[in-house]
Amino acid sequence: MPEDRATRLQDSWIHNAAGWTAAVREGRIESRRLVTDAAILAAIRRHRPARLLDLGCGEGWLCRAATAEGIEATGIDASAPLIQAAQAAAGAQYHVMSYDQLDPAVLGRHDLLVCNFALLDDRLPALLQRLQALRTPSGRLLIQTLHPGDAAGQGWREERFEAFGGGFPAAMPWYFRSRDAWLSALRDAGWGDIVITEPIHPHTGARASLLLDAGPTETPA
Ligand SMILES: C[S@@+](CC[C@H](N)C(=O)[O-])C[C@H]1O[C@@H](n2cnc3c(N)ncnc32)[C@H](O)[C@@H]1O
Repeated sequence: MPEDRATRLQDSWIHNAAGWTAAVREGRIESRRLVTDAAILAAIRRHRPARLLDLGCGEGWLCRAATAEGIEATGIDASAPLIQAAQAAAGAQYHVMSYDQLDPAVLGRHDLLVCNFALLDDRLPALLQRLQALRTPSGRLLIQTLHPGDAAGQGWREERFEAFGGGFPAAMPWYFRSRDAWLSALRDAGWGDIVITEPIHPHTGARASLLLDAGPTETPA
């Protein structure tokens, strides 16, 4: 029942909001500290966006980092307690808004759309299509996600956050996708010019994440 899993997924970020905020702000997640935070920030800097939209922004660290670099940043997230934590730390505009509620009239258009470990359910193709309405004519989309390794296929899994130091009462269903499934979903939704990066964990040598940088299929006139 995908509908139920998607709802449980969103609810988990309400129940786990305090634990997640602490884990991020206290630097408890080693892969973020050592690799993936720097990787997404470097990718953002390469594009020099004037306006950035952070989808599934959580407690807002990426928006704050972008604002500190002179970028006009907006964050949206379905979890009201995470948006409250983001607003309390200030530094950007935030809205409680799920991906189903994305409203171009409210959000406007952005040079860069960023999804940092935030595309977690099975409705990816439709969402990727809707994101087209939120970009400027040459605007791009950056997705960082857990590296799927060389596994094939796709399907629901469950995360219990056991390595993150407590404060996570709710298990999170999430939808696994192979590298090929990510690429097909992007192409099917009209994104092209896809650049793939695989940031490496400096201690283990493992691929820490998959970073997908996509642009419009057609070049603006
Ligand atoms: C792993 S956290 C990442 C948060 C943030 N991007 C970061 O890097 O710290 C995933 C975030 O995606 C948000 N999210 C998941 N599904 C969503 C949906 N359908 N609509 C809006 N936000 C969603 C969650 O509420 C959560 O804040």
